[in-house]
Amino acid sequence: MDTGPILFFDSGVGGLSVVAPTRALLPHAPIVYAADSAGFPYGVKSEAEIAARVPALLGRLVERYRPRLVVIACNTASTIALPSVRAALDVPVVGTVPAIRPAAALSRSRTIGVLGTEATVRQAYVDDLAARFAGDCTVLRHGSAALVELAEDKLAGQPTDPARYRAVLAGLFDQPGGDAIDVIVNACTHFPLVEAELAAAAPAGIRFVDGGPGIARRVAFLTQGQAWPAGEPRHRAVFTRLGERERALAPALARYGIATVEPL
Ligand code: DGL
Repeated sequence: MDTGPILFFDSGVGGLSVVAPTRALLPHAPIVYAADSAGFPYGVKSEAEIAARVPALLGRLVERYRPRLVVIACNTASTIALPSVRAALDVPVVGTVPAIRPAAALSRSRTIGVLGTEATVRQAYVDDLAARFAGDCTVLRHGSAALVELAEDKLAGQPTDPARYRAVLAGLFDQPGGDAIDVIVNACTHFPLVEAELAAAAPAGIRFVDGGPGIARRVAFLTQGQAWPAGEPRHRAVFTRLGERERALAPALARYGIATVEPL
């Protein structure tokens, strides 16, 4: 029997928004949550830096934890490095795709906002998704490093100022035609972690979608029929840099069932 865990990878805590729906579907699956805290944040890095960093790091993580499946729970890393990670690893790899398709299915105004990191929103991959799945919609984008920081701060137990969420949303709504947006794609895994704060700062009736539930279903499908170790699963988090900031995340990790924190 394969006792291997599912390994989730992100630059920081964002991937927890993918862990949550996956745990709901697969409560017996052991999880390794890997965060590249030494490389955080990814969203302001160049394509070349991300493309060099992510496959090498995942190679080390797979060697150490022998997962049965890897989830790149990060839009930035997925939109840039998914093909090279798949080529480098001999385990199945599930990536994160901006949820433009479900957003297009929901939008009545046919104007969609895509909120991601700066690196994600400039990818041709996003143009491609918009053309394929939202051809009759206006797709407005905004890249925000501030929102990534807000999510990290919230999970580290720090208070976050509502004005900062309004400033992030202004990056979408203040664009020409932005006032018609009725659906926002959280195209960074950090953003569902602050969805309540975003919704409170947004005009009434705006809906938010993200890729987490779809990824969870994909993971459940790919592991269908596989056995999981008996008993309560043991989850662990591994950080590429384990300092004070990362240790402050322990209570948040515990809320996701992750009790052990270790350095890579
Ligand atoms: N959580 C990541 C994403 O989904 C990246 C955040 C960052 O490191 O900038 O894009």
